[in-house]
Parts: sequence; C-alpha cells; structure tokens
Amino acid sequence: MPTPAQLRKLKALARTAAARAYAPYSEFHVGAAVLTSSGKIFAGCNVENASYGLCNCAERTAIFSAVAAQERKLECVVVYTPTKTATAPCGACRQVINEFGPAARVISFCAGAETIDTTITALLPSAFGPANLA
Ligand code: THU
Repeated sequence: MPTPAQLRKLKALARTAAARAYAPYSEFHVGAAVLTSSGKIFAGCNVENASYGLCNCAERTAIFSAVAAQERKLECVVVYTPTKTATAPCGACRQVINEFGPAARVISFCAGAETIDTTITALLPSAFGPANLA
C-alpha cells in the first residue's frame, strides 16, 4: 500500500500525465500512475488513434511501461481525470490490472471533490487470471 508521500507522488504524476493525453477524438484526458512492489512509479496517458479501436487507456500505458521496465507487481493504480466526477478504470484495464496486481488498490480522483478508493478485487470480482491457466 502506498505511503502518504507515495500517494502524493502518484497523484501528482497522474495529473501531469493527463495533461499529456493524446485524445483529439474523445477529448477525454486521462492520466494514470502505478506503484510497483519495489516502490517504483510509472505514469501514462491515454493515446488515441484515427482508427478508434486502437485507442490505449492511460492505465494500460502506465502498466505496460512498468512491465517494459521489468516491474510486474502492482501495488496501487491511481487514475486522474480533469472532470467533476472520478473515473474508474474501464473493463479492459481492470483485466490488465488484475494480471499484474490481483490485490492492487485502485484510486480515482478528479478536478472535483469525488474520489473512488477501492481494490481490483471489488472492481473485477471472480476474475479470470493467470491461475486459471495453470
Ligand atoms: N480512457 C482511459 O484512458 N481510461 C479509462 O479508464 C477510461 C477511458 C480513455 C480511452 C479513450 O481515449 C478515452 O478515455 C475515451 O474513452
């Protein structure tokens, strides 16, 4: 679980990442930051494409950056949107969070007062994951 200092850093990086979103089609800017079990933090934004189906969410951008840096265990995922209400990860991102952080805490915050503070277990109950293939 993140320390208060780590949580502050995760939130700051998620907010900065949202400002880097490439979202000319939806104009919905999302930033994410993930904390790995070794204490490292990776951030990402959503990256859209003229071929809409290729859009990549901020959460997966951040998680894939972590995996590319050989960090495969997620402790916490933080999502920021510059909106009035907080945005929980989409279904595809929930599945990817579960792959690398089946006990991860998931926190969504926004420009308004709302915060969602939950776990991937709550967001994706009865998940299909690596253990099912063992
Ligand atoms: N999006 C994210 O980045 N994360 C989410 O959890 C929800 C949706 C992005 C995908 C797309 O670029 C835009 O938001 C609108 O769906």
